[in-house]
This record gives sequence, C-alpha cells and structure tokens, in this order.
Amino acid sequence: MPYSDLRSFLTVLEGKGWLKRITKKVNKDWEIAAVARVVFQDIPEKDRPALLFENVEGFDIPVVVGVLGGSRSIYCQVMETTPLLLMQKWKAAISKPIPPVVVELGLCQENILLGEKADLLKFPVPIWTAGQDPGPYITSPYVITKDPHTNARNVGTYRAQIKGARKLAMWVNFLQGGRLNIEAWWALRQDAPVAIVIGCDPTVGVASVSKPPQGLDELAVAGGLRGEALPVVRCRTVDLEVPASAEIVIEGLIRVDHLEQEGPFGEYSGYMGPVAMSYVVDVTCITHRNKPVFQAFLSQMPPSESSLIRGLGWEGALWKHLVEDLRMPIKDIHLLESTGSAGILVISMEKKHDTQPREAILASWACQPYLGKYSVVVDEDIDIRDLNQVAWALAWRSQPGKDLFVMDNMQAIQLDPSQAPAEVSQMDPARRHSAKVGIDATKKHNFPPVALPPQQHLEFVRAHWHEYGF
Ligand SMILES: Cc1cc2nc3c(=O)[nH]c(=O)nc-3n(C[C@H](O)[C@H](O)[C@H](O)COP(=O)(O)O)c2cc1C
Repeated sequence: MPYSDLRSFLTVLEGKGWLKRITKKVNKDWEIAAVARVVFQDIPEKDRPALLFENVEGFDIPVVVGVLGGSRSIYCQVMETTPLLLMQKWKAAISKPIPPVVVELGLCQENILLGEKADLLKFPVPIWTAGQDPGPYITSPYVITKDPHTNARNVGTYRAQIKGARKLAMWVNFLQGGRLNIEAWWALRQDAPVAIVIGCDPTVGVASVSKPPQGLDELAVAGGLRGEALPVVRCRTVDLEVPASAEIVIEGLIRVDHLEQEGPFGEYSGYMGPVAMSYVVDVTCITHRNKPVFQAFLSQMPPSESSLIRGLGWEGALWKHLVEDLRMPIKDIHLLESTGSAGILVISMEKKHDTQPREAILASWACQPYLGKYSVVVDEDIDIRDLNQVAWALAWRSQPGKDLFVMDNMQAIQLDPSQAPAEVSQMDPARRHSAKVGIDATKKHNFPPVALPPQQHLEFVRAHWHEYGF
C-alpha cells in the first residue's frame, strides 16, 4: 500500500518504534542540529530513530529529521522492501515509471499565503552548523522545475538558504537536471518558475535525491516506487504541479541572469562547503496544510541522513545501468558512507573476462560522473559491505603496477576539499575536473587455497559452542 503523505509514513515509523518524539523545548538555531548530530554519532545505525521535535521555541510547527534516512531499515520502509531487494526495487521503478495524475483539490493548499503573507520566517527552518553556516537552510527541498520547450519535469534536492521573508538562495550543481531547466528559461531571457516541496509521500524524497537517467520525471519514478500514480495539484502562481498532500509548498521565480553569494554550508564531505554564487528564488506564494510538519535532512559529517539516502539511491541508479542496460554480472555495488557516499565506490562481480572489471568502472563513471574518485572492483566472494574484506582483496588480489589506472580530466566532486583551498569559490573551474583512480582487485590467476580450518570443523565448534565455555 503506498503512503498517502508524510504523516501516514510517520505513523508507520512510530508503529515500528522508529520515531522518537522529543517534547523538550528546542531552539531551532542550534539545538535541533546538535541533537540530531549526537543521535547520528552515538546511536548505532541499525537502532537510529527518526526524530520528531514537537516543541520548537517560538513556533507551533514541529520539525522532523531522519525520516528517510535515519537508518537503512527506515529507508527500506520508504521503499517498502528489504535491504536485499533494494536495488531491484530501484531498477524496476526506473524501468517502469508511473506518471503522476493531476487532481483538482489538494490538502497542500488548505492554506494559501500570497503577497506579504507568504513569509518564510514563519517556518522553523534550522541552522545546521551554528557559527559557520550564514543562516537557516532548508535541507530537504524537493525542487520542481520544467523545461520551457518540452515541459519535461525535474525534481532535485538543493540546499536553500533563507535570505529574507520572501527570498531564498539555492545552490544547484553544474550537472544537475534542475540546472538545465533553469538555464533553458534564462536562454529565453525569462525567470524560471519553481515549486519547492517540503514534506510529502517519502518516495518523492528518495527519488528527488537519486539520479535516474536525465529527462526521466522523478515524480514518475516515485509513482514506480509506490506502484501507483502520485496525485498532484496545480500550483497557484506558477505553471507547475506538486504532490497534492505535501505539507508545505513554496512557489516562486528564479531571477533571470542573477546570482548571489550563498554559503558556506556544512557539507556531506564532513567539511564546510565553499561559498557559491547561487540562484535566487523570489517567493510568489506559500501554501501549506493545516498544522504543517516541517521536514529536514541532516547533512554535514558522515554518518548523516544526506549520505545514507544519496548513497542508496545512487547505488540503485548504478545497478540499473550496469545490470539491466549493460548486462554485467554484478553482485553488489557500494558507495562507502564514510566518503559521503561519493568518494569511494566498490563493486563486486563474477567477471566473465579479464577486462570486465575495468569496463564496470568506466561504465560507472559514465553513468554517474561525479562518483567514485577511487573505484575498486573485487570478486563475487567478497562482501563489499565489510570493509575488512574489501581491504583484504585490495591488498592481495591487485598489483599496483598493472591493476591500477588513473584517468585524468574527469568530473570532480566539487565539494572535495582537496580540489582547491577553502577560499576558492564553488564556481571556480579548479573545482570542476579531477583525476579518478580505478583498481581491479579481482584474482587474475590461480590463487592458493585460503588459510582457514576446514568448514566442517568450524561448524562442529559452532554446534558445541557452550562446551567451550562461551
Ligand atoms: C541533503 C541533500 C542536500 C543536497 N544538496 C545539494 C545542493 O545543494 N546542490 C546540488 O546540486 N545537489 C545537492 N544534492 C544532491 C542532489 O539532490 C542530487 O544529485 C539529485 O539527484 C539532483 O537531481 P537532478 O539531477 O534531477 O537535478 C543534495 C542531496 C541531499 C540528499
């Protein structure tokens, strides 16, 4: 059964014991981030709950964090699947998207705030890296734009700094689908219409931060994930549609030919991301449900919600490309969360010929150009979710002189602090290109047997475990 909105999903999480209500009064400008950080740092991933801050000082709107990516179990609940079937679920949704259906009325328009009444400052937007971020940031926007010529829709998540009651600055990376739409409006010398959704059916969120092939509507991917078309309503002041049961929708225009300083912002690399010259959104209208819930993602140092949800979504998109499009014998794909789910990519495969590991690495770089500054392929017997096994394979199944290759002039991870000094802007060309390293850590010849006792001896010991005094 698909979720109808954010609230029904919160009810499911609470039923499973995966939602923690925090009734203590909290300050949105430091305390929400600090509590979320301690939860992510101190509670093991499998036990981490989503957080519902019910009492935000100065506001009567609650804030939720970790609702898509508190843990892998929570993410799988969004996807209504299990960890083992996660990649197949992504593959199916991208292969068989279901376009949204337009309905006349939507709960998201229970309240319509126009003109002076459309005030961003009425919402409890947190400050995340107190003392370093320049102000409050919306971290979980689902930003909807359309191509002016084809009407093709894009949904993506881009950090948005509150710059005033009706003004936002939004950083959209160079290769993002959303950027292409905005630039297409600018080429016509027009402001780009935008709708920014905060909180709705969680499948829209995971689709917004994932990378389906360019041109594929993420709302249709969300439909594929939920197995049913997502109901959408028309916005009030821009020609766009938004999920009908969204909590909050900010409608606006991205000012043509205008960029403003935005950032720095505490990023998923674990460092402060540099200052950027970013798009400016002039808010034309805010609509919201009665008693809205404000959703936010925790970013910054891994582990974080940002790293978890980007990683699992991008792994799904890579899986679809390598397995379905290219029919490669892939067993698993893993973007290490400690690298912001971007820096190190590990693939396991049952290679059919000697050059196939290299081909898998090249295909991954072509599919997701930012990812895998270091990309490693190992044999199918290696559990790539276990770093010890990956390191073991790397140490003993690869020869640096033959199995390591460097490709120059590839897409950089622009937030990679080793690209350029901190003071170099996000827009600087120095941040755009980087070398990438591929390592084939699969066996290339006959290896000696592994040095372990016979399997039956180990099984005997396990069956008589208590007799050994354990
Ligand atoms: C919490 C979070 C924050 C993000 N912030 C940004 C951002 O500020 N700018 C950006 O370009 N991408 C950001 N991303 C990554 C994009 O959402 C992601 O690459 C998405 O696939 C882009 O969609 P698009 O290619 O359809 O535009 C963020 C992702 C997450 C999970």
